[in-house]
Amino acid sequence: YVPAPSLAASAGDFVGCLSTDVPSQLVLTPGSPSFKPLLVSSIRNARFLAPATAEPPLCIVTPTNTSHVQAAVRCGRAHGVRLRVRSGGHDTEGLSSRSQRPEVFAVVDLAKLNNVHVDPQEATAWVNAGATIGELYYAISKAAPGLGFPAGVCPTVGVGGHFSGGGQGLMMRKYGLSADNILDASIVNADGILLQDKKAMGDDLFWAIRGGGGVSFGIVLSFKVRLVPVPPMVAFFSVTKSMDQGAVEAVTKWQTVAPALPDDLTVRVNVQQREANFQSLYLGNCSAVVATLRDRLPELNLTRADCREMSWVQYVAYIYFGDAINSSPLEALLLNRTMTLGRFYKNKSDYVKEALTKDAWEKIFTWPTGAAAEGQLVLEPQGGRMGSIAEGDTPFPHRAGVLYNIQYLESWAGGNTTTPSWINTIYDFMEPLVSKNPRAAYANYRDLDIGVNQVVGGASTYESGKVWGERYFGGNFQRLAMIKRKVDAGDYFRNEQSVPPLLS
Ligand code: FDA
Repeated sequence: YVPAPSLAASAGDFVGCLSTDVPSQLVLTPGSPSFKPLLVSSIRNARFLAPATAEPPLCIVTPTNTSHVQAAVRCGRAHGVRLRVRSGGHDTEGLSSRSQRPEVFAVVDLAKLNNVHVDPQEATAWVNAGATIGELYYAISKAAPGLGFPAGVCPTVGVGGHFSGGGQGLMMRKYGLSADNILDASIVNADGILLQDKKAMGDDLFWAIRGGGGVSFGIVLSFKVRLVPVPPMVAFFSVTKSMDQGAVEAVTKWQTVAPALPDDLTVRVNVQQREANFQSLYLGNCSAVVATLRDRLPELNLTRADCREMSWVQYVAYIYFGDAINSSPLEALLLNRTMTLGRFYKNKSDYVKEALTKDAWEKIFTWPTGAAAEGQLVLEPQGGRMGSIAEGDTPFPHRAGVLYNIQYLESWAGGNTTTPSWINTIYDFMEPLVSKNPRAAYANYRDLDIGVNQVVGGASTYESGKVWGERYFGGNFQRLAMIKRKVDAGDYFRNEQSVPPLLS
């Protein structure tokens, strides 16, 4: 293989090289007044803006067409500058905007490449990686009422990172992950060459970017996705139970009931401050969902008054904005990406294959948080379609036998000197209760605590990658590393948790 050239960066040469192909107004350097606002624009987590955690980029490239992306790769390789690729900026460890290591890098921010083209007859859409899922949902609802797409809850999440890392949401029990519904894609590879479709990229690379995390393999420009049928009205309920109202008993039972419900019904749970909030999506009407839940999970005491019917697109807006959406147009889904910066966050994840006992849930509900912190668990049920896709069909291996995914989320307002404690202690407590050998995690809830790459002789080592990689990708990790060797043996596209090339 041909190793990437040694990366002894020269900032001026890189920016000079870009100027041949990229208009200067699309390249922002730290001297520009727009640089800082743009850098911050899609970072949702205050943790990544503290000087101690962030190596600033050399510049931000904001491509408006494919040739600009190709130029960034070619100039980066020629002048020793690595690239961090950003679509929606929601990486839970901020890797699309920062480097933990001292490294000369530029950010390629794809937000201007956000076109969505829906083909209602074919029930497909081509969506640029820089679009948000809110923009995709909105475009589908305008062009093809009666169709939808299975992806996440927060409308500002970017297509590029979300789809290439999996993409779970409340329709995954019926239709699988976003990645399971990708039909085609285009990508700029580590040589700066545009591979226009899956034929040009080959089966292996096309497989890798459907759950293996795009950025290890290139810069994804667009995905073609299969749209899915949704009924004219869907049903939503939100019911909160305190511990006094039987929250612990309800969650204990939910663990085995939710993954076995009909595929078109998803009931997820948020556990926070000694309460459990149960939220649903049912691809049908309220009377049916109330009848099903009264039978299968009577602990919720669900009544018709708890349930609302709305169109699918109203639902995707409602679940995020709540009642505020009643007074706002659906254009709220096109939400300005430059929202005010939130609190400090830390995420972790687990997969549960055997239900936890009521005693364990009692402890979880009452686990202490620090004075300034809040701890939250989001439980997403699997089963249904998720259980019938083989582990090797895509890099995402968490399929048959998984009851639910847990996302742990600790947030605090106290600045970067506060060390998260709830999340670490509860994660230790959970170890014997969740999946094992290895303890699995969801790639899109990136967690650098589970391991980072070591770079030896200019490339990330397979052994160091295996530590975190088998937790995200199980037995698929080795295939990902072999594909990495095929498409980027010199490890140009690398970060703290990129797939390393398997060199032998
Ligand atoms: P970002 O731009 O930060 O990219 C994430 C990673 O993908 C980075 O490593 C980046 O370099 C790489 N990347 C981005 N664009 C690329 C491209 N075009 N080509 C190659 N690589 C690219 N998940 C979920 O499954 N369901 C959910 O409901 C939610 N909800 C949610 C809410 C909030 C508020 C946050 C912060 C996160 C989530 N997530 C989630 C997790 C989310 O799916 C995950 O962080 C995605 O990677 C985010 O993708 P973005 O493009 O927004 O991030």
